[in-house]
Amino acid sequence: MSAGKEGDILCFFINGKKVTEDHVDPETMLLSFLREKLRLTGTKYGCGGGGCGACTVMVSRYQPATKSIVHYSANACLLPLCQLHGAAVITVEGIGSTKTRIHPVQERIAKAHGSQCGFCTPGMVMSMYTLLRNKPQPTMEDITQALAGNLCRCTGYQPIVDGCRTFCQEANCCQANGGGDCCLNGDEAADESELRTPQLFDKEEFQPLDPTQELIFPPELILMAERANPETLTFSGERMSWVSPASLEELVQLKTSNPQAPLVLGNTNIGPDIKFKGVVHPLIISPTRVTELFEVTQTPQGVWVGAGCSLSELLSLLEKLVLQFPEEKTELFRALIQQLRNLGSQQIRNVASLGGNIMSVYPNSDLNPVLAAGSCKVSVISKGGRREVPLNQDFFVSFGKTILKPEEVVVSVFIPFSRKGEFVRAFRQAPRKESSFATVTTGMRVLFSEGSRVVQDVSLYYGGMGPTTVSAAKTCAAIVTRPWDDETLSRAYDVLLDELVLPPSAPGGKVEFRRSLTLTFLFKFNLEVLQKLREMNVITDELPERMQMRPLPREIQPSLQEFQHVPEGQSDEDPVGRPIMHRSAISQATGEAVYCDDMPRTDGELFLAVVTSSRAHAKITGLDASEALRLPGVVDVITAKDIPGKKIRTMFGYDEELLAESEVSCIGQMLCAVLADTRAHAKRGAAAVKISYEDLADPVFTVEEAIEKSSFYKPQRVIERGNVTEAFETVDQIYEGEIHLGGQEHFYMETQSMLVVPVGEETEFRVYVSTQWPTLTQDVVAETLGIPSNRVSCHVKRMGGAFGGKVTKTTILACITSVAAWKTNRAVRCVLERGEDMLMTGGRHPVLGKYKAGFMNDGRIVAADIQYYANAGNVIDESVMVVEKILLHMDNAYNIPNLRGRGVACRTNLPSNTAFRGFGVPQSIMVMENMINDVAMALGRPGDQIREINMYKGPSTTHYKSEFSPENMLRCWEECKVKSEYNDRRRAVDQFNQQHRWKKRGMSIIPIKFGIAFGESFLNQAAALVHIYKDGSVVVAHGGTEMGQGIHTKMQQVASRELHIPPSKIYISETGTNTVPNTCPSAASFGTDANGMAVKDACQTLYQRLEPIRQKNPKGSWESWVIAAFFEKISLSATGFYRGPDLYMDWDKMEGQPYAYFTFGVCCCEVELDCLTGDYRTVRTDIVVDIGRSVNPSVDIGQIEGAFMQGLGLYTMEELKFSPSGLLYTRGPSQYKIPAVCDVPLRFNVYLLSDSHNPLAIYSSKGIGEPILSLGSSVFFAIKDAVAAARSESGLVGPFPLDSPATPERACLACASPFTQKIPASKPGSFKPWALNI
Ligand SMILES: Cc1cc2nc3c(=O)[nH]c(=O)nc-3n(C[C@H](O)[C@H](O)[C@H](O)COP(=O)(O)OP(=O)(O)OC[C@H]3O[C@@H](n4cnc5c(N)ncnc54)[C@H](O)[C@@H]3O)c2cc1C
Ligand code: FES
Ligand code: FES
Repeated sequence: MSAGKEGDILCFFINGKKVTEDHVDPETMLLSFLREKLRLTGTKYGCGGGGCGACTVMVSRYQPATKSIVHYSANACLLPLCQLHGAAVITVEGIGSTKTRIHPVQERIAKAHGSQCGFCTPGMVMSMYTLLRNKPQPTMEDITQALAGNLCRCTGYQPIVDGCRTFCQEANCCQANGGGDCCLNGDEAADESELRTPQLFDKEEFQPLDPTQELIFPPELILMAERANPETLTFSGERMSWVSPASLEELVQLKTSNPQAPLVLGNTNIGPDIKFKGVVHPLIISPTRVTELFEVTQTPQGVWVGAGCSLSELLSLLEKLVLQFPEEKTELFRALIQQLRNLGSQQIRNVASLGGNIMSVYPNSDLNPVLAAGSCKVSVISKGGRREVPLNQDFFVSFGKTILKPEEVVVSVFIPFSRKGEFVRAFRQAPRKESSFATVTTGMRVLFSEGSRVVQDVSLYYGGMGPTTVSAAKTCAAIVTRPWDDETLSRAYDVLLDELVLPPSAPGGKVEFRRSLTLTFLFKFNLEVLQKLREMNVITDELPERMQMRPLPREIQPSLQEFQHVPEGQSDEDPVGRPIMHRSAISQATGEAVYCDDMPRTDGELFLAVVTSSRAHAKITGLDASEALRLPGVVDVITAKDIPGKKIRTMFGYDEELLAESEVSCIGQMLCAVLADTRAHAKRGAAAVKISYEDLADPVFTVEEAIEKSSFYKPQRVIERGNVTEAFETVDQIYEGEIHLGGQEHFYMETQSMLVVPVGEETEFRVYVSTQWPTLTQDVVAETLGIPSNRVSCHVKRMGGAFGGKVTKTTILACITSVAAWKTNRAVRCVLERGEDMLMTGGRHPVLGKYKAGFMNDGRIVAADIQYYANAGNVIDESVMVVEKILLHMDNAYNIPNLRGRGVACRTNLPSNTAFRGFGVPQSIMVMENMINDVAMALGRPGDQIREINMYKGPSTTHYKSEFSPENMLRCWEECKVKSEYNDRRRAVDQFNQQHRWKKRGMSIIPIKFGIAFGESFLNQAAALVHIYKDGSVVVAHGGTEMGQGIHTKMQQVASRELHIPPSKIYISETGTNTVPNTCPSAASFGTDANGMAVKDACQTLYQRLEPIRQKNPKGSWESWVIAAFFEKISLSATGFYRGPDLYMDWDKMEGQPYAYFTFGVCCCEVELDCLTGDYRTVRTDIVVDIGRSVNPSVDIGQIEGAFMQGLGLYTMEELKFSPSGLLYTRGPSQYKIPAVCDVPLRFNVYLLSDSHNPLAIYSSKGIGEPILSLGSSVFFAIKDAVAAARSESGLVGPFPLDSPATPERACLACASPFTQKIPASKPGSFKPWALNI
């Protein structure tokens, strides 16, 4: 952190302790201050832009006017330290710790299994804590609102919601945890049901919430706030100065002399601009102490709201006013409330100001269209005096520009009461329901002549339809003075269509969708206006129920998780099979858990920032680091020339340079790295390195381009069973289709992080790194430095999520960081920014699947020929293995006698894709299921029937000639149909669809068969090391890495069972290559299987060694045996080893045994779809999974729920967008939407198949990390089912294309409503699209 130069003393409190800073750099945000200066590392960096909630803290302020204290949550990453003068901040460390007492919020989230990798947990805890400070007994709606801005990539949110639900009043009955029979049915029933169904957690254990125990607001700050005559505050840093004027007069003076200096209130616009766009503001004005900007004045015409008021303050003000005034006066207020509830997250709304939102002039601002439609105005002040300016079409000039002069300050905003006969509505559609900027947003107002349907005045404003808020003035002109009827409206749609035109390559893309939304919003407005006119008896014709629109349902119901009791007779001390909490959950919830970047700085430590290519395919003609080297704090620049050992790594015969030297093959490829004393200096240094390029011809980006140019990696793979060509001759029907699946960003919450520390002698290095494969990191670091592996030890304490993205990609970064450490002989840390991480590290392979299915009229699929093209990117990485896994899973659950698959990895100029949970299976299964869906539609039969007809039955053989029994898969299928009440609900869905024109429900049921273990046989091995110390405590080390999947918890359970001691005596510190060498990656859902056996082996050895001691003293304690063994010179340390199955795949013979066994699962989903906007909600999900006998049901159910939600994201939400020149646009949570709490199915039930045993894995369990992700496809097919129902309204039947993800855009356009059909499609090839379809 850079020190400031001069200025006032900043005074605030953190966790009850006073902080005074006399050198504050205005560029310092609270997050870096907490983490780097105060070493309070519980508050996490997840994105730096307000989009993930990992950095949530609570801020409290005293308000002298009302003599009250307000508490609000805020994102520390956007909170300028200077803004905190006089505030009290509470971080996760301030509410509870394992040293003192943990807070009930921390306890409940942890014990309800709401913390897996734990990286999001402190943020979740603080959002919930703040809610409870304001409302100790919240409703479920309060909770989901409070958590809306907190992303979690691991849990799927369900357990977090379940834990938080226990604070609700309505949750204080057994239904809250989905406990089947409710206590309300009588005590006995509840008791019996408790005995029958084991629960994941016992809420009786929870300590009560006692608000009197919370930290009090510091009295000193109250005195400070009440002190009269506040003075101007100034702070100056390296590049910026900050002035906080004490009066309006002073503010006006400052603005007059510095018209370009921004006013910073919430910093939610200015902050991201500085951080992500590199904007530098030499002066910032902070008007937070200018009271006029916060005043609220009511008049008979409406209310003046201070421009400095936060959006949350505005929301609660309006909510209060709608209760006080008659409905007809508060039309505009209610429309604003609706927008405000969906705008950003609570953390954003708590700081973002009304004036800031207006003046940021976002093209898709949610407030501006409503304020403009509602005839609001602003009062502005400058040296020239005050004036009022209407918020109309003249106000919004162009992108980021209003009619106001730069020196003018908005003091307040006037929001008028509505008049009799006036209706105001707001609509928005966004890529995600909450915490997401809108695709299109609108404010609409109409005023009728008294008692008539004749329009006296109308205004329609849209956001997302141009560079700024736009008025549909011509459409309004076509409506005004006319009666509000079908004729007027249908003319209005035509005018609107002509008026709001977007060029086909408009920034933001989605052109047809955006245009159709303009129409459907007007249609929705029409429906609501007609309803109002009916209520007022102005019109009498009834709108048929079928044509009405109601919002999508949103109440999350209690969930159900069913699993088996441990076998009768199992000792109470034996934890195996019980829902034991993740062993670090409490530390994670208190913020004590240490992730890589939480490690303290070592003396002289440097930070490394990488410089990446800005060209997709080019020769490097120059690299000039001279300017960077002149910048403050910059120490060195590392290029390929500095690498002392191997400069490349080779996979499948293809070379990959660690740092590009002569040529680049994608944007985001690493070229060099800048070393500096601080993070900020390193970043500035990296930005100052100048690279010159000479573009090379014809980069390849899309799969189609790769096919055209035969740009493929070798080997290509083929597999065939039966004789496909001949079989096509015999079938009744043939259907050919294709599906395109987009890629997926891992979005692990903790970005790639590492710290390399030279030991100082004999070229020895300690590498602390967030990786799934420490051994690979060790190997390649050693190779890169040209030293033996025994000089490099890799250490992984835990990862904040990984999902396959921390295997190969991490190692390259670790090599570069090690070179820097080697060259400078100093510790070097590298932690990627979210945007860099997303740009550089690739993700899941996009796949194009082309299929031809031959089938009989009775539904049997006799032949299928499928070709898979995976977009691999600029280096091969693991792409060929991904393609192989695609082919090996192409049959999924179906016995298609003649089946052929061809797979190829396409070489393109995009960042190379890599392993991602499921490793190709989610793409493979999707293609097969889509083909089956098409066959069902072609036959006009339900999908579940065609699936049943074609499923494997009885003793079976896969298409690679491996025998297996599908019995448990069929049991899952049957059980899922029963548990989900499939047949009844299917009928109800059909009935719903008949009763609703604009909303449709859809259902689907999908099976999976997922092969466990590595097809590469040598990877099926594991080792462990167990030490027993003289006091009886035990340390276990094994090769598995903890990334949230709970492997250490399970290993602790294994050791506990084998050593016959409680888990509390067993500790797992880290995964280190110095304790357990030559390990395999934690991947392929094989971690527990492999490492569990190794730990078991080591523990059994030790237990055997203690046998003679036990025999001598059978009644002795564990501790007494251990100490006796020591005195008898018995070794208390043992290694364990597991030689896993000898699996193989012979691609020439097209046969093999690549998997140890299969995990089976079936998922049934129902969705409700708004056909006008494509918005949908998963109404219910039931999953039945066969995982044998679970070692830990809470951990396994956590994996099931989390993987399902990640799959839901893959197949319905997450969209990577690349520019036509190959630059990834979607480089943060603002652009790339992963599921949030608003996406959790409203009813989410998980059942573990009972009485299943698996002799092939530890304690009869099965691997579960990856399989269920593919079941997210059931949401896709439920959406497709709903779309099919919508299409039938337009007379369209039969198969239709729908690519994945089925975003609102795709679903809406596929519905082919009369509105979407009005939009002329742009001719492909006639324009350059804004984004590529890779
Ligand atoms: C993660 C995230 C999600 C978001 N989601 C949404 C969303 O869904 N919908 C939406 O509409 N917005 C959204 N926003 C935008 C957000 O609402 C605006 O950034 C915010 O309202 C700006 O207010 P601020 O106080 O933070 O502005 P600041 O960043 O502090 O300032 C913004 C600009 O406004 C000017 N300004 C501020 N006050 C005045 C004044 N009184 N007079 C003159 N000029 C002034 C400043 O000079 C500056 O140029 C989101 C932002 C983030 C970071
Ligand atoms: S790090 Fe602050 S919101 Fe993501
Ligand atoms: S537990 Fe939420 S991100 Fe990992």
